[in-house]
Amino acid sequence: MVVRVEDIAPAVREAEYAVRGPIVTRAQELERQGREVVYCNIGNPQALRQRPLTFVRQVLALSEYPDLLERSPKGTFPADAVETARLVVRESQHGLGAYTEAKGMRFVREAVARFIEERDGISSDPEAVYLTDGASKAAQTVLRLLVADARDGILVPVPQYPLYSATLTLYGGARVDYPLEEGTGWSLSRAALERACERARARGVRVRGIVVINPGNPTGAVLDEKNVEMVLSLAREQGMAVLADEVYQENVYRPGDRFVSFARVAEKLGIRDVSLFSFHSVSKGFLGECGHRGGYVECRNVPGPVQDEITKLQSISLCSNSVGQVVTYLMVRPPRPGAPSFELYDRERREILDGLRRKAEIVARGLDAVEGISCNEVAGAMYAFPRITLPKGVTDSEYCLALLEETGICVVPGSGFGQAEGTWHFRTTILPPVDQIEAVVRKLAEFHVSFGRRRRG
Ligand SMILES: Cc1ncc(COP(=O)(O)O)c(C=O)c1O
Repeated sequence: MVVRVEDIAPAVREAEYAVRGPIVTRAQELERQGREVVYCNIGNPQALRQRPLTFVRQVLALSEYPDLLERSPKGTFPADAVETARLVVRESQHGLGAYTEAKGMRFVREAVARFIEERDGISSDPEAVYLTDGASKAAQTVLRLLVADARDGILVPVPQYPLYSATLTLYGGARVDYPLEEGTGWSLSRAALERACERARARGVRVRGIVVINPGNPTGAVLDEKNVEMVLSLAREQGMAVLADEVYQENVYRPGDRFVSFARVAEKLGIRDVSLFSFHSVSKGFLGECGHRGGYVECRNVPGPVQDEITKLQSISLCSNSVGQVVTYLMVRPPRPGAPSFELYDRERREILDGLRRKAEIVARGLDAVEGISCNEVAGAMYAFPRITLPKGVTDSEYCLALLEETGICVVPGSGFGQAEGTWHFRTTILPPVDQIEAVVRKLAEFHVSFGRRRRG
């Protein structure tokens, strides 16, 4: 039989993922026709000329092709890159072409646990760490555990990153929206969360978990410790698990703001009765190694039998990719001060983060200054989510398509992330290189003004 689209599972057809939706398809068509397209639709730093960190690529090259360890003339690679690659080859036992343990290689999980311990001053168990193909797979695994049918609800922010809405549709769960308050810098309020829980209960939905994205995508907001405490105490009261999406933990730009992990606050409060799943990734921060698909979930207050089920889920697809696991190792075990690679690593890291900080400001300020656009400060992550005033009858999708056709700039309509009724937005990354970003913002501004004028007639 030939499978027709009508024959496939309805949930697959219904799942939407705007970040790679129809506007991106059109952008690719334009590019094939020879148009220059600036892809601001997705947080994919190396696609926008961010260079990989030298140390990461040196270790990967040596680990993938260990002959280089013997054959390279002395001094080709720094001693710590060689030493790290030797450790990878030794610890991976059969080399990177073999399946790994389903949870991921033990030495990487141990390094992740040590990283969490050093970051937060708490203890972490390598057996509660699972290495995954990016944070996406980690989030999907946890949602798979929590959602049996449409009566199982997960609290998801509005606006949110569409991994969550799409996966809930795929798994047949109920999405329970909670609004972030745009007027106060996309803040999170207990009252809004409580109202969302009440409404879910009134429609027969049992809220099993809450997703918190910190720093926020697409909002760029960074939560403070009080916010994190509030979510944990609410989770306790409402009997929910917490899914802490912390993939942007290195991307905090606003002076005075700092990343506070859910794990740290949960330990500080001595919370033992809330299951916490924390996600991290090699795709963001300053590595930007999206294509290598590395990430992890750390589980806290998750009983052994539940962890066994996670191991089983991982086993069903055998293991996450081995190179992604090695990049995860390098993320959590960077060169230490004094090591031969440290200086270069540190300079590359600072250049990337300083560039992102500057671009965050250029984008937010530049867009906010345009009549008919208001944009909150980009305190963290890699995106701006400006609010736009549109002529009556025009949607954000039409606006983004016209922007693409006229300027070659590819952004995502706010409807792909969720937005308050009656408001329109788009999401753009702040990732184009510093020498392009001013031009991108200027073109966006000129387009906005001329679009409004033409459509109003
Ligand atoms: C909030 C958030 N979570 C998770 C991911 C998934 O990242 P990856 O699967 O590449 O680790 C992204 C990617 O953009 C994201 O923005």
